[in-house]
Amino acid sequence: MSERFLIVGPASQLLGVKIANGLRIPCINTEFKTFPDGENYLRLNLEDETILEGKEIIIVQSTGPSANRDQNARVFELFMMIDAVKRIGARKIIVIVPYLAYARQDKIFRPGESEFAKVILQIINSMNIDEFYVVDIHAPKTLEELSCKAVNIDSMKLLADYIKSLGAKDIVVVSPDKGALERSKAFARHFGEKIPVDVFEKKRDVKTGEITMSGELSLEEKDVVIADDIIATGGTMASAIKLSKESGAKKIYAVATHALLLENAKFRILNAGADEIIGTDSIDNEASKVSLAKIIIDYLE
Ligand code: R5P
Repeated sequence: MSERFLIVGPASQLLGVKIANGLRIPCINTEFKTFPDGENYLRLNLEDETILEGKEIIIVQSTGPSANRDQNARVFELFMMIDAVKRIGARKIIVIVPYLAYARQDKIFRPGESEFAKVILQIINSMNIDEFYVVDIHAPKTLEELSCKAVNIDSMKLLADYIKSLGAKDIVVVSPDKGALERSKAFARHFGEKIPVDVFEKKRDVKTGEITMSGELSLEEKDVVIADDIIATGGTMASAIKLSKESGAKKIYAVATHALLLENAKFRILNAGADEIIGTDSIDNEASKVSLAKIIIDYLE
C-alpha cells in the first residue's frame, strides 16, 4: 500500500494526473456538483477511507474560474478536500494551488475594502496543513499569512524555454506596468544576460477598472515578449500589444503564468496584434502550453 496519495481537484485534472504519474503515486479524483440552492458539494471518489489514514496526501487544485465553475466554487472545493483528508486522518497534508483566486486583492485601493487575499490564506492556515505551494502569486508577501512551509514556485524559466523553442530572435521583454517590471527583468534573464527590458506606464481607474497605457519604445524588428502574472479580461495585455505594434514590434508573444482568458480576452489580445497567447496549465485552457508538472514534481520528490 502506497504511503503517498494525490487528490486531483476538479480544476486541475490534467496537471494533477501528470504530477501523480511523475511521482508514481496513486491518484484519487473527486465527485462534485452544485446543489439547487447554489451550495457546492465535493467528496473524494473512494469507497474505503482507511486507505488514506496516516498517509501523506497531496491535494492539487487551482482556483481559477472556468466556463462551468466560478472561482468561489473552486475555493470551496479546495476547503472541502482539505477538510475531508483531515477528518479521515492524513499524517501530512500538502496543498498545491497553482493559481490562487483573490490574490490580487492584497491591498487597499479604496476606503472600506477588504484585503481578501489574506483572508483566503488565513482560512487555509486555520486548517493546519503542512505545506502550501502556489505558482507566481500576485504578491508573494501575502504568503506570510501562513505558518506552515509556503513556497511560491517560479514558472518563468519554463515559459522562457517554451518561447525560445518557437525560434524567437532579437527578443525584448516588455513589462505592461511598473508593478510587473521586476518580474519581467527576472524573466528576461532566462533569455540571456543582455536581453533588454522595457516598460509601459499603466494606470487603472480604481472605480471603473478602465486601463490607460502610454509609452513609446524602440521595438523595430524585435520579437517582443509581453510578460504578466495574470491575463484576466486581456485589457492590460491588449493595450501593451497595441503600443508594442505602434513601436515597431515584429512578433509579439503574450505571456502570463495564469492565462484566465475571461470574456473577450482572446479576441482582444489577438486582434491587438499578438502572434500567440502562452500560459501554463495552472489554468486548463487552450493557452496552457507550458506544463508545471515537472517543476512541481521536483519540489515534491
Ligand atoms: C495586475 O496587477 C495584474 O498583474 C494583471 O496585469 C491584471 O490582473 C490583468 O488583468 P486584465 O487582463 O483584466 O487587464
